[in-house]
Amino acid sequence: MNLELSEEHLLIQKAARDFAQNELKLEVIDRDSNSKYPHKAVKRMAELGFLGMTVSEKYGGGGMDTLSYVIAVEEISKVDNSCSVILSAHNSLACWGIEEYGNENQKNKYLRKLATGKTIGAFCLSEPESGSDATQQKTTAKDKGDYYLLNGTKNWITNGKKAGIYVVIAQTDSKKGHKGINAFIVEAESKGLSTGIKEDKLGIRSSDTSSVMFQDVIVPKENRLGPEGFGFKYAMKTLEGGRIGIASQALGIAGGAYELSLEYSKQRKTFGKPICEHQVIAFKLADMATDIEAARLLIQKSAYEKDHHKPYKLSSSMAKLFASEMAMKHTVEAVQIHGGYGFVKEFHVERLMRDAKITQIYEGTSEIQKIIISRSILK
Ligand code: CAA
Repeated sequence: MNLELSEEHLLIQKAARDFAQNELKLEVIDRDSNSKYPHKAVKRMAELGFLGMTVSEKYGGGGMDTLSYVIAVEEISKVDNSCSVILSAHNSLACWGIEEYGNENQKNKYLRKLATGKTIGAFCLSEPESGSDATQQKTTAKDKGDYYLLNGTKNWITNGKKAGIYVVIAQTDSKKGHKGINAFIVEAESKGLSTGIKEDKLGIRSSDTSSVMFQDVIVPKENRLGPEGFGFKYAMKTLEGGRIGIASQALGIAGGAYELSLEYSKQRKTFGKPICEHQVIAFKLADMATDIEAARLLIQKSAYEKDHHKPYKLSSSMAKLFASEMAMKHTVEAVQIHGGYGFVKEFHVERLMRDAKITQIYEGTSEIQKIIISRSILK
């Protein structure tokens, strides 16, 4: 494994950084304060090729590797994690599984649209009473011969109201437990599909999170992804990759808070010198820099394993666990370094602190990651 970024990766990093710093930063406070969906930014992410960046060129995507993706997510998350969760869910929760497990017809019909970024994808697994315990699906997909009849409600769906294509996980035969679960591609225009209100959240406030309801939605048989009963494994494999993306969001959030804290601590003076010259602040910065570096290495290792077709379940959970915990810890410290200024929106760190919290929750809480890691090391 080469720890140096290639020319191509450096170009992607620069493109993502320029986009985030020059375009996203201008209105990020307004979008966050008013929960405004980032329409313009999503259009730009499509134009710049970030949406669908990991889809193969064969289906109209950027054909980029996971390392490119994590680099882009990190840079965008330094400024606006609402945009990076839209990008992340689209690439790793919607596009990836269709490319990995879909058939040629499904890829030509749906993946091509997603690869343009003009159609956004969403992944529907969580339910009002089933989040961490993902086998307990209440949404049903009854087999009716040449179609499935979908009924139920999905919760906390990123891109919930904006998606054109949903990947939906549902129970076809409850007697079979997780082996009775299937994954389906469902079009947003399907009769009987509706969405709830946009959730009013602590963080990632401008991203679109809502419930998605299915009432007697007819899903053609050809829209099932993978063989009968593969849906639970489809979801678990999708989340393995998704967690690399969430870890990168957390890394970016911590990195953004660190960069702001470093700059502020060199300018702000107390007791006759810049606060970075007080050891109490310098040590906080040292801890931040060390944890950020460690998280980046874990994430890049997991991205490397994914790109080289090695198992990455353990590394993606470790990366997500470590990165999200350290992002929460260090964004709190960033607010502390900024003192009173850290408590107001203008200085950005309070938003990064609020955005950090969700990385410990979505795509499996920190506790779920510990279940996965401990099962893996104890087996
Ligand atoms: N890859 C392939 N197969 C897997 C797998 C994986 N990563 N994980 C589990 N499986 C298989 C197991 O091998 C087993 O299959 P067999 O019976 O054939 O051996 C089957 O699935 C059941 O596995 P477990 O007994 O381990 O399942 P469990 O019920 O104990 O659950 C869990 C394991 C890790 C807790 C899992 O349920 C989990 O990851 N839960 C969290 C779900 C989650 O992240 N939800 C939120 C996601 S969506 C979201 O956040 C919204 C958004 O838009 C961002």
